[in-house]
Amino acid sequence: MKRTLGACYYPEHWPEEIWAEDAARMAAAGLTWIRIGEFSWSKLEPTPGELHWDWLDRAIETLGAQGLKVVLGTPTATPPRWMAERHPDMFAVDEQGRARGFGSRRHYCFSHKGYLGESRRITRLMAERYGDNPHVAAWQTDNEYGCHDTVISYSDAAKAAFRDWLREAFDGDIGALNTAWGNVFWSMEYRSFDEIGLPNLTVTEPNPAHVLAFKRFSSDQVVAFNRAQAEIIREFSNAPVSHNYMGRVTEFDHFKVGKDLEIATWDSYPLGFLEDRVGATVEEQRRYARQGDPDFQALHHDLYRAVGRGRWWVMEQQPGPVNWAPYNPSPLPGMVRLWTWEAFAHGAEAVCYFRWRQAPFAQEQMHAGLLRPDSKDAPAIAEARQVAQELRDAPEVQPAQATVAILFDYDADWAWSTQPHGAGLSYFQLILDHYKALRRAGQTIDILPPDTREFTGYKLILAPGLMHMPQDLKIALAESGAEILYGPRSGARDGHFSIPTGPLPPALPGLDVTVSRVESLRPDMPVALKDGGAAHRYLEELEGRAEVVLETEAGAPVALREGRQTYCGGWLDAAGLDRLIAVLAEAAGLALRSMPEGVRTRRTATEEFWFNHRAEPVQTEVGLLPAAGVLRRPL
Ligand code: GAL
Repeated sequence: MKRTLGACYYPEHWPEEIWAEDAARMAAAGLTWIRIGEFSWSKLEPTPGELHWDWLDRAIETLGAQGLKVVLGTPTATPPRWMAERHPDMFAVDEQGRARGFGSRRHYCFSHKGYLGESRRITRLMAERYGDNPHVAAWQTDNEYGCHDTVISYSDAAKAAFRDWLREAFDGDIGALNTAWGNVFWSMEYRSFDEIGLPNLTVTEPNPAHVLAFKRFSSDQVVAFNRAQAEIIREFSNAPVSHNYMGRVTEFDHFKVGKDLEIATWDSYPLGFLEDRVGATVEEQRRYARQGDPDFQALHHDLYRAVGRGRWWVMEQQPGPVNWAPYNPSPLPGMVRLWTWEAFAHGAEAVCYFRWRQAPFAQEQMHAGLLRPDSKDAPAIAEARQVAQELRDAPEVQPAQATVAILFDYDADWAWSTQPHGAGLSYFQLILDHYKALRRAGQTIDILPPDTREFTGYKLILAPGLMHMPQDLKIALAESGAEILYGPRSGARDGHFSIPTGPLPPALPGLDVTVSRVESLRPDMPVALKDGGAAHRYLEELEGRAEVVLETEAGAPVALREGRQTYCGGWLDAAGLDRLIAVLAEAAGLALRSMPEGVRTRRTATEEFWFNHRAEPVQTEVGLLPAAGVLRRPL
């Protein structure tokens, strides 16, 4: 498949006289895809029922005339002001019970039936009009579900829908819910589903089973909202339907949303993320301020490849400084090209830059584009042109299955955030730490959804932190023939967030390990391991006959192994994880490579890509990589 480039464009922001020239310049720069429309509701329907399609017709025609393909976004992330009069209670409500207001975006509650109706209505009108338009070659539903903390809403609409959701989940049996949640504790028993409230504004912490159920419900509301749009678009169009996910937004199950779409896309802002989503130290933030974290984007590429069942794009690629991070430096020359090639190396079908031209007005004035507000070239467009030329000249990227995998489960992330048991402990961070260790060892990684039961081809599978593990998953992993890593907290809870009272967790077939006690650790009290590295943040006391792989300096087992399965009860620091990965990789027969700091590699079926995320040249086993350098080598 030919990989392609694109950009996000807002014709409604610019005088119509410049659209044709814009389109010609986009085509000349080597772009293929232009995403439009996703925030344009007030232009499409200035007052209820009065539809203005003419401008969008002409915008699509103008782009199409240059051979550009349009990704058309439904505008439901930005309901216009009149919507608030029609549906005054459509706003999401925060944990303090305050309704969010109009004046930015994503100001709706996923459970509001009236707004769901409006979302279906505008989607149907759009799909009817453009479903067979030859230039509309893909669709996008809404924009970045969950961004700006918008999945959870404590509204009356959510409360009513949550009660229905619970009634169905427990087959109408309130006694079963009371038992599953342990509501005998603190006299929390309910007599009917209609007595159940939302888990906010309680005096002290609510029941974790209640909180987790509400998170699962809230995720399902996103799935349903998205599905409604996808189904309507499909009635009128054969073009693929996508959604643009965000970085480190975990409040809804992307795998479930992804099942209703043909393509997963995501919005990659490496410098914006570094400051507040990566969990980097201050020193790392300084060192990578102009490059971004060497692993954070790659992890999302691999995650969203799984969400899209192989089909994924970067829908928004940072092209210069953004407006929204605590600090907003410019990328190092070469980084926009590196980020683009890195996405292709991970299998992206397309990379689109956000945005075509910097806006002179409103919230994102300080956000760079491919063009400056005066329409002159901004620095990134030269790098985009270079990639477009390279795509024409170079061999096609041929993706292949990796031999190493990480299981990723959104439900585990909700379980950890429901009960972190130590300040700041997060499942996502645990996964990122393991992913980084694999990348430091030069591995190419697949992320797998938690309902995977077929593991053929994998030699090493990491499944850390899965607090609830269905029995058939335990069996499938044990029988997969791969080396498996579990822990900490694997299998620590049943499906309703109680500690299993049979055999102590993790109760893994073929691995004689039980967790007899757990503790979380202050950031300044790591527990040193014998021979290097430490457990920090979280440490379990392990019992069992399995062979000790890592132990504390005091001689307590931290990782135990039996057959091909290993349980690690500590959250290991980088040095500890590097040791553990080395043991597992050797057992799995994987060739480990020691990557220079900031250098990463990824294999496809036919070649190996190398990326230097450092601000200076680095000597590697394949030669000298310039700063922000990319190297392709046939295998
Ligand atoms: C994304 C969003 C875009 C734009 C961009 C700015 O999160 O989808 O609409 O706001 O951020 O970086």
